[in-house]
Amino acid sequence: MALPEGFIDELIQKTDIADLVSDYVQLKQKGGASYWGLCPFHSEKTPSFHVETDRQIYHCFGCGKGGGAINFVMDIENLSFIDAVSFLAKRAGMEMPEDGTPEETRSRRARMLELNRDAARFYYSELTGPRGKAALDYVKKRGISPAMVKKFGLGAAPDEWTALTEEMKKKGYSEFQLVDAGLAKRGKSGGVYDTFRNRLMFPVIDVRGSVLGFSGRILDDGEPKYLNSPDTAVFSKSRNLFALNLAKKSKMGMLILAEGNIDVVSLHQAGFDCAVASLGTSLTEEQARLMSRYTEKVVIAYDNDGAGRKASERAIGIFEHTGISCRVLRMDGAKDPDEFIKAKGAEAFSVLLERSENHVEYRLLAAKSKYDLDSPDGKMGYLREATAILSSLTNEMERDVYTAKVASETGARPDSIRSEIKKLIGVRKAAMSKKESRAAMRVEINAQPKAKELKYDNPVSASGEEGVVRILMKDPALSNRITLKEEEFTSPFLRKVFALIMERVRNGEGITEAAILPFLSTDEASHLGKILEKPETAAQSEKALQDYINKIRSAKKTALTDDDALIKFSEKQKKTKGYGG
Ligand code: UTP
Ligand code: MN
Repeated sequence: MALPEGFIDELIQKTDIADLVSDYVQLKQKGGASYWGLCPFHSEKTPSFHVETDRQIYHCFGCGKGGGAINFVMDIENLSFIDAVSFLAKRAGMEMPEDGTPEETRSRRARMLELNRDAARFYYSELTGPRGKAALDYVKKRGISPAMVKKFGLGAAPDEWTALTEEMKKKGYSEFQLVDAGLAKRGKSGGVYDTFRNRLMFPVIDVRGSVLGFSGRILDDGEPKYLNSPDTAVFSKSRNLFALNLAKKSKMGMLILAEGNIDVVSLHQAGFDCAVASLGTSLTEEQARLMSRYTEKVVIAYDNDGAGRKASERAIGIFEHTGISCRVLRMDGAKDPDEFIKAKGAEAFSVLLERSENHVEYRLLAAKSKYDLDSPDGKMGYLREATAILSSLTNEMERDVYTAKVASETGARPDSIRSEIKKLIGVRKAAMSKKESRAAMRVEINAQPKAKELKYDNPVSASGEEGVVRILMKDPALSNRITLKEEEFTSPFLRKVFALIMERVRNGEGITEAAILPFLSTDEASHLGKILEKPETAAQSEKALQDYINKIRSAKKTALTDDDALIKFSEKQKKTKGYGG
């Protein structure tokens, strides 16, 4: 779809990148136009994600992602360019231009979200209709209040083969779309039938209120207990959390992570409106990062059984990566939060929350439960695990306290535990610094872009091309000094950027990073960010520009005449760090 001239420019102008990024990342301002936060694209404990409002760009020094507002939305929402534009347009209150394309080719994602929303409405209204009686009875039996039915948008899938399919077809959706969205399946005879039948329906809604998919609970003891939407163009189980749309508004200052949908509903009903659940998968890194956008504190309230304990241990490890401090709730005498609250009340759960165990204690307890401390072997096994846990603690005081505890539990001398811990820390540090120095070396050798598609065939020429682009972006007035032709660029990516710049110059438009970025893929945008960040060695831009042009031309000559010479030349350049940092 072709957008009218100036549309993107206006969009960028109306979007403040710090404001946009803040929807996903907690940013801290460090000096006028500079903001820092934890990168949403990789897991980290200390912020290396940088937003600069002067240039309207973001950049992560850890994973290398970077770009402008549109690139950010493409990456974080997993959208195509045009969908990201329309996402931002909606946010900025701008009307997307009519595209005139036929219905069938309208964005698959957008149509799927509409279909999901209509399906959710259908299930919701069925719950109070004649076909929803069994589901409504079940809701009552589980003690779910009408207020919660409304809050969560619970619904009923009728006990029929094509109830939803027929209703959605009437609304103009095709069988293909229904199957694509995971709401229907194609039978052997070629017809389609509803995926969810005779189930209590839980819509999965993201933080912006879009219905991504569904979880359907069976109304008796049958199998499978839950049926979930498959992963689709809009739904990924590993990247979303049930009820985060509600919990993100909570004032409790934390998130409670439960296992089951029913637990979450029960918790909200009891006033714990910060409860979420992972969608029938064990917690993933993405889900932990998603949670870290809203809180620094998580209480794990998984089921009180072997599987739940194992899952808790895993989750603790994942949260440690994300900079979230987590605690584990121990519910004695109940199998899950739903049962606990029903048996002992909300008050009692509140007490549990306050007492929820520090994760070190929890991990030690979990380790201890595996061994028989009365036998020498068991003691050794526990000590081995305990020292590993203790050596992972960064707080020395905490380490001391728990070392003393383990010592008294096992009868081992605190000093010998401490020296074991020291050894382990040493091993870990050595492994770390090896990894770091290797990474540093890679940066040295590799002036190449991270993304394979952008790899330079002629790195020497490309470094000159990078320089030309950098200088033009900083000082567009120098464009009248350009004797270079597009064909002289060896990197298709840099050629494209150069062409974009020159076109804007010809049209008398300004050259800002923000104006160029929308035309680049996220990989390209991120690489351009890096190029622009490299310091300029020569003080005089005009002289530097000429040097870069010369470099491009001589690199080409070398390449044409002698490959060996090129290699030597490029090695020499590397040694003298002759090009742009
Ligand atoms: P539970 O079996 O603990 O479910 O599974 P629950 O929600 O607590 O339900 P009740 O209280 O027993 O009725 C925990 C979660 O695991 C996923 C669901 O998301 C469920 O909420 N799950 C469970 C599935 O995806 N499929 C299944 O077959 C079972
Ligand atoms: Mn459960």
